[in-house]
Amino acid sequence: MCGIVGYIGDRKAQNLLISGLKRLEYRGYDSAGIATLSSTGQLTCLREKGKVAQLAALQVTNEVDDSIGIGHTRWATHGTPSIVNAHPHTVGRITLVHNGIIENYQDLKQILESKGYSFKSDTDTEVLTALIDSLYKDDVSLLDAVLGSLQLVVGAYGIAVLASNKPNHIVAARSGSPLIIGLGDEETFIASDASALVGHTNQAIYLKEGEIAVCRAGTVELYDIAANPITPAVETIESDMQAIQKDGYDHFLLKEIHEQPEALRSTLAGRLRSGSLYAHLGGINMSDTELREIRNIIVVGCGTANYAGQLAAYLIEQFTEDVSIQVEIASEFRYRSFHIPENSVALIVSQSGETADTLACLTELKRRGVRCLGIVNAVGSTITREVDGGVYVHVGPEISVASTKAFTSQVAAMILFGLMIAQAKGTSTQELSTFINDLNDLPTEIEKLITDLEPDIKTLAKSYAGYDHALYFGRNTLFPIALEGALKLKEISYIQAEAYAAGELKHGPIALVDDSFFEVALIADNWLYEKSKSNLIEVNARGGHVIAITDSKKHIQAETIVRVSTSLTQLTPLLFNVVLQLFAYYVSLERGNDVDQPRNLAKSVTVE
Ligand code: G6P
Repeated sequence: MCGIVGYIGDRKAQNLLISGLKRLEYRGYDSAGIATLSSTGQLTCLREKGKVAQLAALQVTNEVDDSIGIGHTRWATHGTPSIVNAHPHTVGRITLVHNGIIENYQDLKQILESKGYSFKSDTDTEVLTALIDSLYKDDVSLLDAVLGSLQLVVGAYGIAVLASNKPNHIVAARSGSPLIIGLGDEETFIASDASALVGHTNQAIYLKEGEIAVCRAGTVELYDIAANPITPAVETIESDMQAIQKDGYDHFLLKEIHEQPEALRSTLAGRLRSGSLYAHLGGINMSDTELREIRNIIVVGCGTANYAGQLAAYLIEQFTEDVSIQVEIASEFRYRSFHIPENSVALIVSQSGETADTLACLTELKRRGVRCLGIVNAVGSTITREVDGGVYVHVGPEISVASTKAFTSQVAAMILFGLMIAQAKGTSTQELSTFINDLNDLPTEIEKLITDLEPDIKTLAKSYAGYDHALYFGRNTLFPIALEGALKLKEISYIQAEAYAAGELKHGPIALVDDSFFEVALIADNWLYEKSKSNLIEVNARGGHVIAITDSKKHIQAETIVRVSTSLTQLTPLLFNVVLQLFAYYVSLERGNDVDQPRNLAKSVTVE
């Protein structure tokens, strides 16, 4: 989603802003812009629809040496993607970039219009810019004008603000949309995401809700919304350059699919053990007594994180007998009149740790006294700061918009949490050996699968890339995999992909089967094999173009068969998922799409 960068120091701001925006491209956006100020207050503002590369081309003919500036990648909310709606916005002496949504912007706009302001764009951001300008007077500092404006605003924001007559500082503020201030040697960076700081500094201040920073070259003053000074807490950020490079892969997505074995090893390191104490999660801050008391787990997440929760629920409920598990879509759950059973604990699942709907559920669950644990990847993200404890999945930066390695490790982390509960309730290692052994073997099994099957999947993708519709189905643990596999396909290939529990096919979706569809049948070699095979036969009988993916060696009839060969028993769904990730990748490639930054999507969804 939208990204913010800012710079003040003695280097050329334009170059640093553009390279910072390139680092934020993975979040998804549809226009970009930068604004810099000369020491005499001359503003140079460049904005373009499309990619940062187009903005960089614009810089060639508009190059300036200014050493203070702000930049933005915009994912359209109010107003179409266009140059006039792109940030930065300038009104009077104020120039501003903004992430989030100002909900009362129409009311504010009317008030400002009555004071003589007129607006060029359709954005809420231009209204906020005008509001700050209206309060910014010769005897009012930029900080006070921003503070005064933010008190009138309803909504979410991360902002960076310049005043043309003050080319020596930038004011940055956060409420509901993350901002990080990076401290360098005689220079200061602003970013909505730590990846824009990598290579410049590892010393950072994460703004907390309602905090405002006055950034000068190498120094920062911090205030709360009531203008009380706060002592900044400077933290060391851990991301490294290596982790955000493509490492010879054509796309981040392919790199991240291949990274899954290593990512899993990081998720499991020190947490999955041998002997009677088989699982250990240091960050959940729960005693054995508290774990024993759990009777209900509420899993909350969006998109892929939600599907990870759905799969984890199928798996965990097999060995935590007196614990029920409910999995909720955050954007729905936040507005329901839900009842919370006694002894509940919530798992807040999010790769980015910033998803607005997930965060809203966390706030509500906490307000109602539920212990909330994060299953998060991004270190230092908002969710990790708000939860009562949690598990970092430690998969490293996930850059491609479509989530892959985070899914696999989220499932593993939730199984570990289930194992902690089982352990506290006295379940022995022997009773859980199939899960423990599978977790241990999973990284190697994924490696083997990629080596064995990737060339075939690539060929297969060529045959099916011409379809515009697909139907995925599976039973039990393969139902969430059907959902996730279909999501991957629609996200990056733009093929309409429906996913169903296989038993539901005859209740409607089987009517879709014709030559414009292909079907993906997920068939596990387990007690449901015969039932799953019957569903496949029903589709075959109606002229389906079926790709059957199975870990069974038995004879099966389908247009195409992909056989997964594995020693795993419980966690085979995660292998099927890797097949579907690779399939979606190669179909997308075949269709000539932008694999890592698919149209209309954002990596980190910080608005509702
Ligand atoms: C966006 C991303 C998805 C992701 C979802 C939840 O839609 O494109 O890949 O699954 O947000 O994100 P989170 O960061 O909370 O896991």
